[in-house]
Amino acid sequence: MSLTTIVLAAGQGVRMNSELPKVMHPLAGRPMVRFAVDAARALEPDNLILVVGYRADLVRQAVGEGVAYVTQEEQLGTGHAVQQARTASGQADTVLVLYGDTPLIRPDSLRQVVSYHEDTGAAVTVLTSRPPDPTGYGRIVREPGTDAVLAIVEENDATPEQKAIDEVSSGIFCFRDDWLWRNLAEIPKSPAGEYYLTSLVAIARAQGELVTAWTVPDPLEVIGLDQRVKLALGEAEMRRRINERWMLEGVTLVHPETTYVEAGVRIGADTVIWPNTLLQGQTRIGRECTIGPGTVIRDSTIGDGCRVELSVVEQAIMEEGSDVGPFGHLRKGAHLGKGAHMGNFGEVKNATLGPGAKMGHFSYLGDATVGASHEELNVPWAAPGELDLSALLGLLRERGLRRILVEGGGLTVSRFLQQGLLDRLHVTVAPMLIGSGRASLTLDPIAGLADALRPAWRRFTLGEDVLFDLDLRAEP
Ligand code: UD1
Ligand code: MG
Repeated sequence: MSLTTIVLAAGQGVRMNSELPKVMHPLAGRPMVRFAVDAARALEPDNLILVVGYRADLVRQAVGEGVAYVTQEEQLGTGHAVQQARTASGQADTVLVLYGDTPLIRPDSLRQVVSYHEDTGAAVTVLTSRPPDPTGYGRIVREPGTDAVLAIVEENDATPEQKAIDEVSSGIFCFRDDWLWRNLAEIPKSPAGEYYLTSLVAIARAQGELVTAWTVPDPLEVIGLDQRVKLALGEAEMRRRINERWMLEGVTLVHPETTYVEAGVRIGADTVIWPNTLLQGQTRIGRECTIGPGTVIRDSTIGDGCRVELSVVEQAIMEEGSDVGPFGHLRKGAHLGKGAHMGNFGEVKNATLGPGAKMGHFSYLGDATVGASHEELNVPWAAPGELDLSALLGLLRERGLRRILVEGGGLTVSRFLQQGLLDRLHVTVAPMLIGSGRASLTLDPIAGLADALRPAWRRFTLGEDVLFDLDLRAEP
């Protein structure tokens, strides 16, 4: 059977007290209308129409391609809104209508109501629910004894007895296509000057047409988010679902209640997320990471095995095995290479920290590139155990390097000195690995070094971490 789905999103949403159209208020970081459209799209309808009106440009921008837009210039009610979709709708067997302010509906429930409607051959099928508090919703009036649906009565028009009815309309309807388009014009104007889609139930009944109802078991799926207290309920439910999804996919959320994962985020298995953590926007997190506690990651890509603790990461990239924090801030354009480390109270903005590079306490790096902490130079041996110095110098020149770090010491240094290849010799005890254009070279310590170095070697002891920072002569 062919299916047209129409999502209504033209209203302003006065009860939100907002400049933003109601359907643009976000749930889990995404305008609520997108959830309604995605639920409709999941049914793979032949035709997907979105009725826009109030601040239509904003809504179009948020929803993007892949739907047919129809404009309702004046918001004269839900029946009037559907009528605007007449031409775009074309020919189908079933028309499914849903509301942009009902974003928690699950595709599976939509499938069920559509197949129930098609099986019964009804002219109209309404999706109903039994919420704890029916106030504000259209009430479902059933025929005593037979349970047949007679009418939907809006809150404003309901008698006290009707207000006591606990079954309400979700606003989600299935219509037999031909019947709908023949009868939309029959909807009477309400005292408030609106054309209610819900009036079609009584119209069908008066014609002797079959009207059926399908009740969704979980009333949360169809709460209409038209004021901010309900918006918060919707938000909580959406986040609960998102968290549940990631836990089932292998992510540990130590405290799901304080873990806020937006709808656009992806997380790899065996990652552990500690409390009070916000993952926002188009964030991608790899496998086996440790994130949080107290961390915000926004629109960033984090590789496998990374750690971020008590930090803020925005529009940044962290490659595999890198880590940030505590109290770090990666800002737009920050890029930590594989295994790089940014320690406490560090900030990086529009800068790259090369693989393995370490940036410690109270440090800032902006608009810069820091090279790798180690770059292996493959230098040939002149004789067993002896470096070919001219080959090394050739390599260094080729790469435009004038300084190298020689890690762990070695005869090389004394030979450099003896052969007059070095201008100066600096010895540093801390591995000062920051600075582009440096490479390190690991050599076996060779006896005799201490003697050779003695003139420059008074104040330092040779330990495992000692690095030789050499200035090479431009021309030997
Ligand atoms: C509507 C139903 C009510 C139901 C409730 C469920 C009607 C008359 N009432 O009431 O029976 O219980 O939803 O949530 O249908 N819209 C337009 N153009 C308009 C008016 C509305 O596109 O002219 C859109 C809104 O943007 C919104 C949706 O239709 O997404 C529903 O409108 P809303 O004003 O929220 O109707 P409710 O009062 O909630
Ligand atoms: Mg509503």
